[in-house]
Amino acid sequence: MGQFDLKGRKALVTGGARGIGASIAQALTEAGAAVMIGDVLADVGRATAQRLSSGGAKAGFVPLDVTDDAAWAAAVETTLKELGGLDIVVNNAGIEITSLVVDVQAEDLRRMLDVNVAGTLLGMKHAFRAMRPGGAAGAGGAVVNIASVAATIAFPAIAGYSATKSAVDRATRVAAMESGKLGYGVRVNCIYPGLVPTDMGMKLANDIVAAGLAPSVEAAVGDVIGQTPLGRLGEVGDMADVVVFLCSDAARFITGAGIAVDGGMGM
Ligand SMILES: NC(=O)c1ccc[n+]([C@@H]2O[C@H](COP(=O)([O-])OP(=O)(O)OC[C@H]3O[C@@H](n4cnc5c(N)ncnc54)[C@H](O)[C@@H]3O)[C@@H](O)[C@H]2O)c1
Repeated sequence: MGQFDLKGRKALVTGGARGIGASIAQALTEAGAAVMIGDVLADVGRATAQRLSSGGAKAGFVPLDVTDDAAWAAAVETTLKELGGLDIVVNNAGIEITSLVVDVQAEDLRRMLDVNVAGTLLGMKHAFRAMRPGGAAGAGGAVVNIASVAATIAFPAIAGYSATKSAVDRATRVAAMESGKLGYGVRVNCIYPGLVPTDMGMKLANDIVAAGLAPSVEAAVGDVIGQTPLGRLGEVGDMADVVVFLCSDAARFITGAGIAVDGGMGM
């Protein structure tokens, strides 16, 4: 593994109970890191952490609603206590509420802004405070935010979600700039996943049919595959491997970058 090795690193992954986050947590442990999963789904999150632990990894669960500043402080404190440090934060928790622009509900938009934008910004805040020189961990490290191909292309019925993911993309750059200029020693990057058939991804495919944009789920998925030069949907492991790379020393000169992991859909 060499430069990709994460042995001795300590990581906190939000939304790690299931889907892409669970795969990221697994891949980080496979690269040698110890991992805390922070999620609002306590039972699922505990089970995922348990599965990783029973495979020999050091993994735990901490309850975390990413929209809650105090919960972030507590989750970082628990991670420091349980793992003995903090070198990696992956801001993966996110929600998607599908709507055509003509049907947009302010409440849905506020909820997506809260989880996707405020949640990610608060994650970077607490990561920086802990990881910068003089912080409780204090050794620098890496933050990876999960944006979306939706931040790079126009996909119908997800205007609000796309706006929040564009915000994640921009906030990533500003945070990377601040961290560099202020000598925090924390690299900050994001990835843009293409459509991945997780709970979120399959719900979107169903919503596209309900919105009258495709005759069936198969057709909706087929449309996405047709727009994807590599000719398939994404898999959770496709995302996780790139996150491991961005957290590793192999990416030591990469900060403020957004990497498309979408089979070319957004090119
Ligand atoms: N699946 C896709 O097609 C796709 C594509 C591009 C980007 N993404 C992004 O990838 C990330 C993971 O998506 P997924 O497909 O695994 O979704 P998912 O719905 O399967 O999993 C999301 C996880 O986040 C957790 N979560 C939600 N709100 C939270 C909160 N307030 N605090 C803490 N945890 C919370 C959920 O409990 C769940 O465990 C999201 O940011 C999503 O926007 C997904």
